[in-house]
Amino acid sequence: MATASYAPLTACAREGLARFERSYEAQHPWDAWAAELEELRGLAAAVLGVPDGEVALPASACSGLAVFLEGLMPDHRTILVADSCFPGIAQACHAQVRLGARVRSVPFDDIAELTTDDPPLAVVVPQLCSQTGYLLNVDRVVSCADASGAVAIVDCSHGLGHLPPPPASVVLSSGYKYLFGVPGVACMRVRNDWAERSRPAITGWFGARDVLGLRPVYDPAEGARRFDAGTPSFPAVFALVGALRALKQILTDEPGLPALITGALRPLQSQAEGRDFGFVSLCSTEQVVDVLSHLNIVADRRAEGIRIAPSVANTVTEVERVVDAICSTVEIDAQR
Ligand SMILES: Cc1ncc(COP(=O)(O)O)c(C=O)c1O
Repeated sequence: MATASYAPLTACAREGLARFERSYEAQHPWDAWAAELEELRGLAAAVLGVPDGEVALPASACSGLAVFLEGLMPDHRTILVADSCFPGIAQACHAQVRLGARVRSVPFDDIAELTTDDPPLAVVVPQLCSQTGYLLNVDRVVSCADASGAVAIVDCSHGLGHLPPPPASVVLSSGYKYLFGVPGVACMRVRNDWAERSRPAITGWFGARDVLGLRPVYDPAEGARRFDAGTPSFPAVFALVGALRALKQILTDEPGLPALITGALRPLQSQAEGRDFGFVSLCSTEQVVDVLSHLNIVADRRAEGIRIAPSVANTVTEVERVVDAICSTVEIDAQR
């Protein structure tokens, strides 16, 4: 129940890791590794709902964002960052001050208006609030950004694979949450017009136009591939391929499963006022923690509370069991 933090290590990801280990026995594994990387790009493109050429596979969501933004510098315009963004995402934005950008951290609810009044270079928002689990109205932010010529960047790390991605120019997701990979590779959609405008200095041979040509010149790949940078973490690539093959099958067989899983959390959401959510955040009490650990349930515990974040790796029955256990232990006090 902690998928918003990190996914359980599924049999499919383990199978990917085992395939990577076996690939070492080949004489020259690079061709197989490169093919695996392209399979991953295709699988990620399907989850993102975009063509393969718009998908970058950076080492992490934060580093992918940093490389994309750095490639747009120097630019003296503003980057607006929602104050509900994950700190690492905000850090990647604030780092651009060194390269000329102005960076403002602002409440999510102000972003659409600010974008319209004084068009920034970029707006960076999360798909949902990582404290409450509530879905944010990112579509409005995306259309204001598109209309004002800004690049809309949405961090979907708490949703991709579980919730539909927004139509933003840049979509980010770490690979080790709802995509069920392990740390080491992330998925990033960069629309072609924005990919071509960004010329990253932080690069490596997998970001080059001709990876195997090995020419000592700066010639970035077309489209999003230029953000891939150096040698990928191939163990993570194999694990994510294994996981995404399975996820694709699950979502083909049962497209409504993520909604059923999230819907089974509804009884915990007593103060949700009809808002949609991706996971539930509760004020933590020792009682809840005790009950969950007694039932051998892993939830994401943090200073401000406990996040109950199931995924398609769970069954609806499991979620109902957790909800019953919590409801029978404490009076629910869902956070806003
Ligand atoms: C919402 C969100 N975005 C991004 C990240 C970090 O992603 P990565 O480790 O791939 O940079 C996290 C990590 O927990 C997160 O919660």
